[in-house]
Amino acid sequence: MPGWPFQRESLPNNVNKKRFVNLGVRGIFFIALLLITYGIYIEPYQVETHHIWIHDGYLGRLLGKKVVVQLSDLHIGKVGRRERAVLRTLARLRPDFIFLTGDYVQWNGDYRAAISFLSQLKATVGIWAVMGDYDYSRSRQSCLFCHEEGTGTPSRHHLVKFLRNTIEQVNLPGGPLFIGGADMAGEGLLSSAAGSFLRGVKGPAIVLSHNPLSFEYVNDEQRVLLLAGDTHGGQIPLPSWLLGILGWEKNACYSRGLFEQNRKKMFVSRGIGTSHFPIRILRRPEITVLHFRQ
Ligand SMILES: [Fe+2]
Repeated sequence: MPGWPFQRESLPNNVNKKRFVNLGVRGIFFIALLLITYGIYIEPYQVETHHIWIHDGYLGRLLGKKVVVQLSDLHIGKVGRRERAVLRTLARLRPDFIFLTGDYVQWNGDYRAAISFLSQLKATVGIWAVMGDYDYSRSRQSCLFCHEEGTGTPSRHHLVKFLRNTIEQVNLPGGPLFIGGADMAGEGLLSSAAGSFLRGVKGPAIVLSHNPLSFEYVNDEQRVLLLAGDTHGGQIPLPSWLLGILGWEKNACYSRGLFEQNRKKMFVSRGIGTSHFPIRILRRPEITVLHFRQ
């Protein structure tokens, strides 16, 4: 006998469950797609100006009124939207000091775009830099950062001073400022030369190092502020225990932000570009402005 025309037939339980699971899977897929789209096309271009306050009597007296900026991990393929945004922000900030903590190019990439970017940097007192592991991916090309092609003449293309396990003294009205740079060996490890350089720094000093594991080479009693990068803040949020299991020690221990142990301090920048995957989620690119207070 045919059923009443408006009567709804009840479906078996297993069909209802299948529909529910199907809907759930589609929902998760849709959210993942939205997140990935956001992480690739939106967040990597939202460059944040990140203000950090460092309390140090000596540096506060020297740099209290100066505009000090750190840039890291630009990974430039071409001077595009993100790089132009960085240059516009720098023009507004008018820095006295710019500190660059490595990885200006992509792996085995073209160095000309990075050098063109560096040539557009200006700071009233000076610009100092170290190289990162990516900058050494084409070792012969890495020479272009410091020298004119095929010569020992210092580069005329930019005003950046590259530090390779060396320290410089800058005389300011409040006294001398020491700026050092620990140089990377290949494969992202610190060379023994960099280790002994770091152990020998007499503070107070600002020391640039691409790899934040440098912090462990500096003695607790050394009055050193390390500026580092390399981790990109992880690019996406992952728990440190998982990063440890995956062998990414620097990310597990020093992913981003300010670290302090007795007299030594370190700031790790999330950087500006990306590597491995062109994605950032909840890890916006940053231009760091360091404010020194006594
Ligand atoms: Fe990097």
